[in-house]
Amino acid sequence: MNIPFHVPYIDDDDIDAAVAAIKSGWTTMGPKTIAFEDAFARYVNVPNAVAVSSCTAALHLALKVCGVGSGDEVIVPANTFVATAEVVEYCGATVVFADIDKQTHCIDSASIQKELSPKTKAVIAVHYAGHPCDMDTIMDSAKAHNCYVIEDAAHSLPSYYKGKLAGTMGHCGCYSFYATKTLSTGEGGMLVTANNRWADEVRSLRLHGMNRDAWKRYDNHGSWYYDVEQQGYKYNMNDIAAAMGLTQLAKLQKLTAMRTAIAMRYSEAFGQHETLIPYSVQEMCSSSWHLYPLKLNVQALAVSRNQFIDKLAERGINTSVHFIPLYRFTYFKNRLGDSYCKFPSAEWVFEREISLPIYPAMKDEEIAYVIDNVIDIAQHYKR
Ligand SMILES: Cc1ncc(COP(=O)(O)O)c(C=O)c1O
Repeated sequence: MNIPFHVPYIDDDDIDAAVAAIKSGWTTMGPKTIAFEDAFARYVNVPNAVAVSSCTAALHLALKVCGVGSGDEVIVPANTFVATAEVVEYCGATVVFADIDKQTHCIDSASIQKELSPKTKAVIAVHYAGHPCDMDTIMDSAKAHNCYVIEDAAHSLPSYYKGKLAGTMGHCGCYSFYATKTLSTGEGGMLVTANNRWADEVRSLRLHGMNRDAWKRYDNHGSWYYDVEQQGYKYNMNDIAAAMGLTQLAKLQKLTAMRTAIAMRYSEAFGQHETLIPYSVQEMCSSSWHLYPLKLNVQALAVSRNQFIDKLAERGINTSVHFIPLYRFTYFKNRLGDSYCKFPSAEWVFEREISLPIYPAMKDEEIAYVIDNVIDIAQHYKR
């Protein structure tokens, strides 16, 4: 068998919607984008949802509206995708890494507390793999410190923390619709916020700083005249992506149930083996299961994490690692020096983690094949 790490779930509804958007004659940001924003705002139950070209763009604009700039510090987890940190640099501010929790791999609240300084302007909480961060503690520390919380909800559509949707608890929430995400438009993102003034600013910033309805300037309902109110960016969504977003959103619940069922099968099977550490979700939380991060009990195995990945690949099972901690990359090493020892939990997780295939299109026999082979390799190399 050959099992890819990811297969997108794009059905005829998505394809028909994208084709209809192309045939409509209006392909850039337009009525479909506005309809997707409205539907998304209703879904997350937040007054403003602003569609952008990626989650990276959403994170960047979230920092902008929070007023993050030169001289400020922003705390981000050490174990995330580079986008979470690079946006801080876009603003001329300084990235400060915090360690993660060994079980959930989310940013560790105690580590945030240690890193807070008079310069801290914001914390970016990444709901890793779909597991919500400890939002009550994070919001309390941020409030006490008078700084903002931006949720990087790239993985967590939909995940819940104490009944609240991840991405809707902080000052801004940023979602990703990248090819591998739980809702995909190929590329795309959404910024949600309860702050109407910020939402208006993001609407302007995403389109060159033009005033609000400038996207209509080529339409007979619009006007050729527009103003540029501030320096902006080319971060708008397009209507082909938005049309897919609408049809994907309509089946999100079904797709989440399919992912959850796979995760439950994995956890039940791997929980029987002392060489494997299944991923579990904390009480009062639920996960979108964007990823299934298995960990190896490396002390009990005669192979390393990397060798385990190779063994799986030899059997046609493609996996990944989430994430290479950011301080390990040349760019951040050059800026921060070697800081491995500052992040014992991120290092601990990195030594053990393998992300297994998990996507709604996975067939029963493929799920069983992954389970059987992971267990077979683990048993074969048990010390
Ligand atoms: C945690 C996290 N944040 C942000 C992003 C960036 O998302 P996008 O590709 O939509 O910019 C990703 C993408 O993989 C991610 O994993």
